[in-house]
Amino acid sequence: MEQIAYVNGSFVPMSEAKVSILDRGFLFADGIYEVAAVLDGKLIDNASHLARLERSVGEISLALPETIDRIQEIQRELVTRNHLVNGMVYLEVTRGADTGRDFAFPKGDVKPTLVMFTSVKDIVNAESAKTGIGVITVPDLRWVRRDIKSVALLAQVLAKQAAAEAGAGEAWMIEDGKVTEGGSSSCFILTQDDVIVTRHNSSAILPGCTRKAVVALAAERQLRIEERPFTIEEALAAKEAFITSATVFVQAVVTIDGKTIANGKPGPMTNRLREIYVDFARATAV
Ligand code: PDD
Repeated sequence: MEQIAYVNGSFVPMSEAKVSILDRGFLFADGIYEVAAVLDGKLIDNASHLARLERSVGEISLALPETIDRIQEIQRELVTRNHLVNGMVYLEVTRGADTGRDFAFPKGDVKPTLVMFTSVKDIVNAESAKTGIGVITVPDLRWVRRDIKSVALLAQVLAKQAAAEAGAGEAWMIEDGKVTEGGSSSCFILTQDDVIVTRHNSSAILPGCTRKAVVALAAERQLRIEERPFTIEEALAAKEAFITSATVFVQAVVTIDGKTIANGKPGPMTNRLREIYVDFARATAV
């Protein structure tokens, strides 16, 4: 059965899901996106994703074409229509299609574009969760407002292509000698004295929804957390390293640029946080 997508008010087969070549998302990357996981047919941590969506569109003065409640209804309807059990819902909102290519915002009554589609992934039982992944390091080539979840992802495309070519699962981006974040994930290490370290939120990184939940869940359990930048040398000397995102939850990192961290296997803290996160995800799914 063909996948169903949502495009500006209609549910349509994927092959008919189209937007204009004048869409500002296509011409200028003038748009915002979100990715929410689906577990057992329910949306994971979706309130957090929709709050970040509202913040991102606010930062670029883009008005959502639907209310947040309606957007969640559409996400859920799409999950149902696609009989999606485990995977994710992608949503994107752009400043719409004007009559030509003008950099400044449209002057007329141009409606923002809203599209959504789903994809299948068994995040909980992913093989890479058992083995851990390797990462490579690349310079962080992005703009300075990385806190906005913009669809301008060319630097991440190049970073993740370099990772794929190197047989790695993610690229860690480096700026001023410190890790900013992964191409599509937040980065963590566990130091030798059992402190969980992850970079503090700022315009240098995307405020990850999974990161936020993991930090809160760890704090509730009295685990020690430091929110600060760290170097690759620190990561290589760490007990454990891992990434978080809506599409992997908590995922062990076992090598960096081919160098092994600890014994090269997912560590107990990573596995524990993954279990805690999955329990939280199931308990709060909508
Ligand atoms: N990416 N940092 C970046 C640069 C990201 O693109 C993402 C998510 C994250 C993690 O955020 P969250 O925990 O809210 O998913 C951090 C999504 C999954 C993507 O682009 O596919």
